[in-house]
Amino acid sequence: MQENIDRIHQIYMYPARFKPEIPRQVLKMINTHNHLPVLDPFAGSGTLAIEAYLQGINSISYDLNPIIEILVDAKIKILEKDCNPKNIEDHIKKAGEWNKKRDVDETVQEWYPQEVMDYLATTWSYMEENVIRFDHKSKKFELIDRRCGSLTSIIMLYATRKISYTDNSIYKYYRSKMKKQWLDSMKEKHGSIINIFKHYAHWKLNQITRLLKQLPEKRNKEAIVDVRGYVDLLVEKDLPEREIAGIITSPPYLKAHEYIRSFKYDLYWLGLTLEEIRDLSRREIPYRPTPSTKINSTTYMDYKKRVMEKGVNLLRSYENYFNAIIRIFDKITDKLIPNGIFAYFVGSPMLGGIEIPINKILMEHYVSKGYTTIDIRKDPIRKRRLFKGRNNANPQGIPSEYLVILRKNE
Ligand SMILES: C[S@@+](CC[C@H](N)C(=O)[O-])C[C@H]1O[C@@H](n2cnc3c(N)ncnc32)[C@H](O)[C@@H]1O
Repeated sequence: MQENIDRIHQIYMYPARFKPEIPRQVLKMINTHNHLPVLDPFAGSGTLAIEAYLQGINSISYDLNPIIEILVDAKIKILEKDCNPKNIEDHIKKAGEWNKKRDVDETVQEWYPQEVMDYLATTWSYMEENVIRFDHKSKKFELIDRRCGSLTSIIMLYATRKISYTDNSIYKYYRSKMKKQWLDSMKEKHGSIINIFKHYAHWKLNQITRLLKQLPEKRNKEAIVDVRGYVDLLVEKDLPEREIAGIITSPPYLKAHEYIRSFKYDLYWLGLTLEEIRDLSRREIPYRPTPSTKINSTTYMDYKKRVMEKGVNLLRSYENYFNAIIRIFDKITDKLIPNGIFAYFVGSPMLGGIEIPINKILMEHYVSKGYTTIDIRKDPIRKRRLFKGRNNANPQGIPSEYLVILRKNE
């Protein structure tokens, strides 16, 4: 059973996703008898939402990346066995026979072999009219097929990504010689790029069908799963709206990832405009200028001096990062109940050759604000594909990550 749950978390790629056992264990420490929700303000692929749901605990998840809405809905649909895979099969078939086309920007076309452009334009036109639509006003996805819309979207995105020029093993869109060669060899095997698309769409569908068969028939615990994408907590004033029982989260690790860039064309096919995607990218932490805030940490000041010696650009990233994370954490911890648990999982990334102890800086700040440290666990990174292929300020990657568990004093 546990293995299948872990597979549900993996149905679509997401950089720096929680290992499910982290939220799973911390959730057990949280007192949720009054049904107050737990919160993840940087929820990514929604690992906390799913683990909380499995334990019958209400949850709230926010992320800047709107794809979270589709990922969590799809995972819940698997757990609830709410979608009949035959309906997805039907969508794949009908999308292939659809006779309308959507416009595709030239910059997007460059990421796909020309011969498959018409097929993608018709497939995603079908999707927009029958499966999923993005509402530009509310900035929310609307599932036209409520039962199978999110799972069908994941399958179509998966196949669309496979036939793009982006490397199969790197999250952000990145062209590689290897991918070109891979596409050529797959074309020889399957006959055409369209057939490669169909092959991968069915491969993903089979994976989901297998999961649906292997899961037990009925779930016994109900929980509210509140998920909101396109949320920029630096500008939102009133979120969360209510008290929360606990916070379990993993914020970005300085410049380790560019989340929106990793989903740029996925979001485009799902209906966002290139301008909306650029706007989201500009809001990402730490790539945005952020006004300063009070940071009670001597370690922060010590490392600031060291980073300053490495140049003004790195200093700017350092300051933007901590000002943004602490502003957001200060705001959400205001809503945490006394004795509530605040747990964060974060790496110590390199900035200009200096390993930045994010966990320690945050801990010093919150201990000064009246939190007690309950536990600090070091988790060495072994197998995770964290920084492969990157050429940025993290050449040595991240040696380890830390789970810090704090309790708000009464
Ligand atoms: C380490 S990931 C979280 C992964 C998540 N724990 C999971 O299991 O999938 C950090 C997240 O922070 C989000 N993020 C970055 N800048 C943000 C901002 N300004 N507001 C809200 N979320 C932001 C990214 O989109 C990313 O999903």
